[in-house]
Amino acid sequence: MIHNPYSSKKWPLPDESRTALFAQTLAKLCETLEAATPGLVVYLQGDLGAGKTSFSRAFIQTFLPGQRVKSPTYTLVETYATPVFTLYHFDLYRLCEAEELEYIGIRDLLVPPFMALIEWPSKGQGVLPKADLIMSLTRLGEGRELSLQACSELGEALLDKLGS
Ligand SMILES: Nc1ncnc2c1ncn2[C@@H]1O[C@H](COP(=O)(O)OP(=O)(O)OP(=O)(O)O)[C@@H](O)[C@H]1O
Ligand SMILES: [Mg+2]
Repeated sequence: MIHNPYSSKKWPLPDESRTALFAQTLAKLCETLEAATPGLVVYLQGDLGAGKTSFSRAFIQTFLPGQRVKSPTYTLVETYATPVFTLYHFDLYRLCEAEELEYIGIRDLLVPPFMALIEWPSKGQGVLPKADLIMSLTRLGEGRELSLQACSELGEALLDKLGS
């Protein structure tokens, strides 16, 4: 196992509104952190129905209020343009092999400045860019527990600012 020198933190998210609130807080933080502008990659892990799309919707709507955000289950990726950067929302659940990402031109797509939220990143292993943050959602009673693992200096800086 590769040693990850960066930190991780956990938060309980008792209901969907807390998921949305957390997504808004992280989104605002990403916006203020200038270093985030070149390109931020967030992996979203968790079972079916864990809340990855709920999180992504609230994150995207922080930058684009009222924006309709549908799950990219069939399209693989949905793209949103903000005045300052491009937001990509991937769902790789239906990907058969990681190389398919090459066919959709992922390398040409992720041109800075961008932020990418990637559901089911395990399906794109080997082709996806490395994550700055890995978010894992697990069921906790009626709610969820969110664990955030930093994987880069940028991820660490964001995690640090999130408090506990
Ligand atoms: N913190 C929370 N506590 C309880 N329920 C939540 C919480 N966050 C989201 N939910 C609910 O859980 C469900 C999550 O569905 P969502 O589509 O976001 O899951 P997903 O992880 O994207 O699944 P998939 O892998 O199928 O894409 C929604 O019904 C939402 O209302
Ligand atoms: Mg989803």
